[in-house]
Amino acid sequence: MEGEARRMPCPPPAAALMLSLMLGGWSVQGLEMLVGKIPYLQAVNGSTVMLPCNYASCIGIRNLYFNWQFNENGTMVKLVDATIRKDGMEPSVVEVYRERVEFIGRGIKSNVSILLWNITFDDAGLYTCFGRNPKEKGRNHSAIFTLDVVPELIVVDNTLAILIASAVGGGIAALMGFMLLKNFTIFVLAKIEEKNKECLVSSSGIDNTENGLSGSKAESKPTPKKK
Ligand SMILES: *[C@@H]1O[C@H](CO)[C@@H](O)[C@H](O)[C@H]1NC(C)=O
Ligand SMILES: *[C@@H]1O[C@H](CO)[C@@H](O)[C@H](O)[C@H]1NC(C)=O
Ligand SMILES: *[C@@H]1O[C@H](CO)[C@@H](O)[C@H](O)[C@H]1NC(C)=O
Ligand SMILES: *[C@@H]1O[C@H](CO)[C@@H](O)[C@H](O)[C@H]1NC(C)=O
Ligand SMILES: *[C@@H]1O[C@H](CO)[C@@H](O)[C@H](O)[C@H]1NC(C)=O
Repeated sequence: MEGEARRMPCPPPAAALMLSLMLGGWSVQGLEMLVGKIPYLQAVNGSTVMLPCNYASCIGIRNLYFNWQFNENGTMVKLVDATIRKDGMEPSVVEVYRERVEFIGRGIKSNVSILLWNITFDDAGLYTCFGRNPKEKGRNHSAIFTLDVVPELIVVDNTLAILIASAVGGGIAALMGFMLLKNFTIFVLAKIEEKNKECLVSSSGIDNTENGLSGSKAESKPTPKKK
């Protein structure tokens, strides 16, 4: 059955008609090439990567032609191509035009992904997953996937993380030190004030109201007015 390999919610016929009238074509129901929510990958030199691509079509496919192309210095270079006769079928013959490229797609899953073995810095760039469904009068569809090749990922990230961690740690330590210093300063100031009061008040100079020494409170109260 044609509907089995569908991966997208297809609009019901009435809604589809409305939408296609609004959008002026068959674009709603037509073929779509999908390279994932994040069509970008950063990989380390020498690793092997998957370039993902799936197709979806509400009207079904018949002799779907697809290929993968790489934009090399502005020229589109074909890496792989094949034709899929019907939904859910495997492509009959998959032509691979480059070494280190392997087709790993599955017709049953509408999957036309490829593997790129042992990548080099020259492999960085834009990859296009292209599809054409004759059911749509040869309309072209494509999606672009970007590959970035880097020498190493982990070391840079770790250094940055350590830098941030030590900066944050240092900040906290400084804050704690500041608070300790502040408390100490308040303590010292309080002591000095206490001392001053002791000097000013002749007999019982300690202004310690909290300790319930009501007598000393009464006595010390008028003393600041001497200032
Ligand atoms: C990239 O990887 C290849 C194979 O592992 C290695 O020979 C080459 O030296 C690497 N280049 C850089 C710049 O790391
Ligand atoms: C693309 O450019 C690189 C260096 O800039 C060069 O080595 C390579 O041969 C070029 N490829 C083509 C197909 O012109
Ligand atoms: C990838 O590199 C490994 C080790 O260098 C090698 O054994 C393997 O054949 C290479 N694969 C391809 C497809 O070039
Ligand atoms: C496509 O097929 C490849 C290989 O079987 C698999 O790793 C990948 O997850 C598949 N992608 C989707 C979206 O099913
Ligand atoms: C579709 O792409 C092919 C090249 O692959 C081109 O020759 C053809 O004119 C395009 N058709 C449309 C309708 O854009």
